[in-house]
Amino acid sequence: MKALVCEAYGPIDTLVVKDIPSPVPGPKQVLIEVKAAAVNFPDALMVQGLYQVKPPLPFTPGAEIAGIVTAVGAEAKHFKPGDRVIALTSTGGFAEECLADVHRVMPLPKTMDFDSGAALVLTYCTSLHALKDCGHLQPGETLVVLGAAGGVGISAIEIGKAMGARVIAAASSEDKLDLCRKVGADETVNYSTENLKDRINELTAGKGADVVYDPVGGPYTEPAVRALAWRGRLLIIGFAAGEIPKIPLNLALLKERSLVGVYWGDSTKHDPGGHLANLHQLNDWFAAGKIRPVVSERFSLAAAGDAIAKIANRQVKGKIVVNPTA
Ligand SMILES: NC(=O)c1ccc[n+]([C@@H]2O[C@H](COP(=O)([O-])OP(=O)(O)OC[C@H]3O[C@@H](n4cnc5c(N)ncnc54)[C@H](OP(=O)(O)O)[C@@H]3O)[C@@H](O)[C@H]2O)c1
Repeated sequence: MKALVCEAYGPIDTLVVKDIPSPVPGPKQVLIEVKAAAVNFPDALMVQGLYQVKPPLPFTPGAEIAGIVTAVGAEAKHFKPGDRVIALTSTGGFAEECLADVHRVMPLPKTMDFDSGAALVLTYCTSLHALKDCGHLQPGETLVVLGAAGGVGISAIEIGKAMGARVIAAASSEDKLDLCRKVGADETVNYSTENLKDRINELTAGKGADVVYDPVGGPYTEPAVRALAWRGRLLIIGFAAGEIPKIPLNLALLKERSLVGVYWGDSTKHDPGGHLANLHQLNDWFAAGKIRPVVSERFSLAAAGDAIAKIANRQVKGKIVVNPTA
């Protein structure tokens, strides 16, 4: 089968598409013909050796897929060849076939296409876990989403609205903010041209935001923390800007603000029941039309490296997917 392969950690343009042996499922695994594999920011970090997880080389990146089961292991009784599924794989997704552990495979809802299925789980589960379990976002509260037109950002806007919050989307261009408004943002801030702290204070009549969802870091975090209300919460999702900010802790003390770390992947191991409940909630919201992954571009397997470069270069709106067997 053909797969995108990282042979050595380094620049994204060193990734190659080549023939490698088809994988064989272990007892608790299924083999999936990959119809769609979503691109996530950690893919770009991982192939450069910059992510907290460093898979043994060589490896194929690609953390979430949707496709059709083609073979099942002896103990993988819940699935059979022909089933349409979504799977979280951590690696291996940018390939014609991919193995998945059965406990990370779920049926693709009947009304969902493969691209949406691949683009749903990682970002929407991260945002629901962040906003509900870590941020305790309440109806009527004000949520500010940074990097709001990116993968996790769009999901945070939609989930924030589904939870009854007023959502202020912040991003770096008018084009990106247009998309944020289309998916439901009530207000927007262009943080390349406007002062983030002043604008949030203006939009909240001086009170500040109740929750800030921050997948970006860099120069944006501190002004956003300074614009948090009394007992506001900063949700630390990631550092797409490349720099991990250092926040003066008096900013937390002065208004009893909380700085809350979010690590969705590990949270599913600590609280599998909570994760399952969140998946059901997302399924219900999808069925009700309240959440809808925005797939802005599709790539062939041959161009999968370009797709990863695009997310690393801040050029993606919503989600992009690779279609290895299209
Ligand atoms: N904690 C968790 O459990 C968890 C789970 C999933 C993802 N994450 C993290 O969340 C972050 C975002 O992931 P994503 O998949 O949503 O990525 P994404 O689609 O690329 O969105 C990230 C956004 O960050 C902004 N950004 C600012 N400076 C940037 C730069 N120098 N390079 C790239 N982007 C920059 C961009 O928006 P503007 O141009 O509008 O600024 C971009 O849209 C990543 O750090 C990822 O590792 C964390």
